[in-house]
Amino acid sequence: MACMSWLKKCMIIYRFSYQNQCELVRKGFRITVNILFLGDVVAEDGLATVVNTLATIKKQYEIDFTIVNAENSAHGKGITQKIYQELSDAGADVITLGNHAFAKKEIISSFDQCPFMIRPANIEPLDVGNSVIIREIDNLHIAVINLLGNVFMTASTAGPIEVMEELLKEIDADIIIVDLHGEATSEKILFAEYFADRITAIFGTHTHVQTADERIIRGCAFISDVGMCGPYDSVLGRNINELINHVVKHQPTVYMPAKGKCIMCGCVVKIDETTCRATSIERIRFFPNA
Ligand SMILES: [Fe+2]
Repeated sequence: MACMSWLKKCMIIYRFSYQNQCELVRKGFRITVNILFLGDVVAEDGLATVVNTLATIKKQYEIDFTIVNAENSAHGKGITQKIYQELSDAGADVITLGNHAFAKKEIISSFDQCPFMIRPANIEPLDVGNSVIIREIDNLHIAVINLLGNVFMTASTAGPIEVMEELLKEIDADIIIVDLHGEATSEKILFAEYFADRITAIFGTHTHVQTADERIIRGCAFISDVGMCGPYDSVLGRNINELINHVVKHQPTVYMPAKGKCIMCGCVVKIDETTCRATSIERIRFFPNA
């Protein structure tokens, strides 16, 4: 019973509607829901790039629903309420996190002021914020879930498969989307193969390197890692020289994010709204300011 009440607490439902969706329905044209997922936003420059570019991408791809992983958006680790608001104002419908979800301690006390942000279901502290959010486009309920991988990930409290099984018992939605934040491609592929019949899209995050393995598995869109939105001349968004000094010369690290030209990585998934199954997944990877 304790588990059930925790699951209910971690789920939250919001309803909303888009002008363009209503218009298309009136004309009888709507056949797909277009989902945009942007990979890990890294550091100040990555955040600025996403904020300045998101509206253009949404227009270009006719996006109905946008998810952004922003666990590295505050100086390379964590997120703040101010950043949450910036991304929401820029057009993110749901913001997901990862192993650095609570790196900025202030977010613990302000999580409730970030209604469309979710944290991994299997990371401590388990009683802060929600891990599942359900939003509605017209009569279509879209659930987004955030999970942490268990392989090479020290922060996870339980394996993502067993946690997902428990969550699925409680989720009532037409479309289910998962951000699986993990290190190992094998773990993410296994998760996708196991849940493909019950989930509509699974986006891997965390490695900051976009993989070229996007595919549709029995109606479920999948990619091992979406990649990052952050400084390109870097080591996963981190300052190259600072990291060399730390790793090679054994100097203390200050964890300095890189600056400069940013890459934007993401995926666009089309979902047939009559079947609620994914029909295509397209990787996007470009340099907005180059
Ligand atoms: Fe991460």
